[in-house]
Amino acid sequence: MTVDLLFLSQDDVVAAGGTDMAALIDVIEGAFRLKAAGQVINPMKVMITWSDEPGTQERLGRIMAMPAWVGGEWDVAGLKWIPSVPANLTRGLPRANALVVLSDRETGLPLAVMDGTVISAMRTGAVTGVAIRHLAAEGARTAGLLGAGVLTRTQLMALAVTRPGLDIARVYDPDTARCERLLAALAPELPFAVAVAGSEREACEDADIIIPSTLAVTPTIEPAWVPEGGLVVLVSSLDGPESLHAVTDVLVVDDRLHEGTADTRYLRRLIDAGIATAADAVEIAEIVSGAHPGRTSEGQRIVCSPVGLGLDDVVAGAYVLRNARQRGLGTSLRLRDEPLWL
Ligand SMILES: NC(=O)c1ccc[n+]([C@@H]2O[C@H](COP(=O)([O-])OP(=O)(O)OC[C@H]3O[C@@H](n4cnc5c(N)ncnc54)[C@H](O)[C@@H]3O)[C@@H](O)[C@H]2O)c1
Repeated sequence: MTVDLLFLSQDDVVAAGGTDMAALIDVIEGAFRLKAAGQVINPMKVMITWSDEPGTQERLGRIMAMPAWVGGEWDVAGLKWIPSVPANLTRGLPRANALVVLSDRETGLPLAVMDGTVISAMRTGAVTGVAIRHLAAEGARTAGLLGAGVLTRTQLMALAVTRPGLDIARVYDPDTARCERLLAALAPELPFAVAVAGSEREACEDADIIIPSTLAVTPTIEPAWVPEGGLVVLVSSLDGPESLHAVTDVLVVDDRLHEGTADTRYLRRLIDAGIATAADAVEIAEIVSGAHPGRTSEGQRIVCSPVGLGLDDVVAGAYVLRNARQRGLGTSLRLRDEPLWL
C-alpha cells in the first residue's frame, strides 16, 4: 500500500494551465455554482498576525491557512497555506509565497502539493473575471486600477478575457518604475490600451471598472469618482471607504460570513459602522446560479468585495492537478511504503 503524491513546481503549474485565465474564470464560476448548490464546504480561514493594530497585515505581513472541499466534478479537499510579507519586495521576493495541498476526500490520502503563488494570484484575477462578466455594464469602456503588483497583473488578464473591447486601462502605483515595468511587459498581450496614471484620481475617476489591488492602509477611492454604471472590485479592501456604500446600488461579496467577519474587510467595516448588515450583500454564488439577477440596469453602481476563499484555491489547484496528470507533468513523491503504525 504505497502512497505517492504529485509535487508540482511553479513551472509545472504553468505548464498545466495555471496561467490560463479564460479557463480559470470558467472553473471559478463553476465552483461558485457548486457553492450555491451546497457542494462546497469552506470553513473560516485562520490567520497568524503579528499585532492587533489596524493595517498590521499590510505593514508586517500575515500567514493564512485556507481550507475547503469542493464537490461536483472535483470532489477534492485542500488547503492554501499563504504567508504574505510586504517587505519581501525589497528583497527581490514576491509578497505572497503559497503552497496548495490537495487530498482525496474518500481516503484522506494526499494527492498533490504544488506551488500556490501563481494559483493564488490567478484565482484572484479569475474571481474578478467572474464579477466583471456578470456585473460590469455592457457599455464599459475604461478601467482604473490601483497598484502595479502581482495582483494587478492578473486583474488585467481577467479584464482582457472578459472585456476585450475596453478602450483603455489606466494604472497608478506610487512606485512609478514598477508600474511602467508591469505595463510594458503586459501591453503586447492586452487587447486594449494601457497607460500609467499620475495619481489614484487620474486612474479611477469616471472609470467604468475600478479595481484596487494595493497595500494601502487608508481609503484611496472617492465615491464621487464612480460613474453611473460603474463597477468597483475591492481586491484590496482598505481602498474602499465606508462612504462608498452611499452610492452603491448593489453590494456583492464572495461570502457574507467570511467577508462580514474578516478584519478590515469592506463588509465588516460597513457592519461595524452600522451602515449595512450582512443581509444587504448578495453573494457571487447567488448571481452565477441565477438566484439573484445581479445588475438590472446599465446605470447601477455596483461594489463587489471578494475576501478570497479557500474554495477558489482548491478548485484552481484541482484544475491544475487534472491537467498535470493528463500531460504527465510533475514529480511523484513517495510518502511511505507501508504505514509505520496501524
Ligand atoms: N481579495 C483577495 O482574494 C486577494 C487575494 C490576494 C491578494 N489580495 C490583496 O491584493 C493586494 C495586492 O497584492 P499584490 O500581491 O499585488 O501586492 P504587491 O506588494 O505585489 O503590490 C502592491 C502594490 O500596491 C502599491 N500601492 C501601495 N499603496 C498604493 C496606493 N495608495 N495606490 C496605488 N498603489 C499603491 C505598492 O507600491 C505595490 O506596488 C494586497 O493587499 C493583497 O492582500 C487580495
